[in-house]
Amino acid sequence: MSYTLEQLGADCRAAMDKDPGPAGREEVRKFIAKVCADSDFVAEYLGPDNMTPRQVIYEDDKHKFCILAHVYEGAKGSNPHDHGPSWAIYGQAVGVTTMTDWEKVAEPSGDTPGKVKKVKDYDMTPGIAYLYNEGDLHSPSRTATTRLIRVEGQDLTGVKRDKYEAVA
Ligand SMILES: [Fe+2]
Repeated sequence: MSYTLEQLGADCRAAMDKDPGPAGREEVRKFIAKVCADSDFVAEYLGPDNMTPRQVIYEDDKHKFCILAHVYEGAKGSNPHDHGPSWAIYGQAVGVTTMTDWEKVAEPSGDTPGKVKKVKDYDMTPGIAYLYNEGDLHSPSRTATTRLIRVEGQDLTGVKRDKYEAVA
């Protein structure tokens, strides 16, 4: 294998050691883009027999970020969201994700969703990765199965997220 998970984890950790803020995450984003374009790495963690929707493949015991392999089957769209207290990176390995970025126009309160206005749509194709810092609102959609390598600043399992609805 040209670039191993161990090497990826070590490179990402070194980047976060240098700067755990947006600059270090930008370095992590570049490593994720690199593995998404690495056919050996993709075959190993996102091969055609893999149908696991969410799998943590690396968890950093120092900085607490997680690297995940995702297989998202079939067409689906998602609502605008951020990741609560966390940042995230989406890396496209197989297929196409159409991502929409949103701007917050009203905060959520109680059971009332926040309101968001569309900023732009863009397609993520294999080898492309994007960083979403805390509070960056986005919504992925797809017309067929996709395979992604994602990073969460912390494991978001069970973390409550605010709801948002789009306004024109
Ligand atoms: Fe997200």
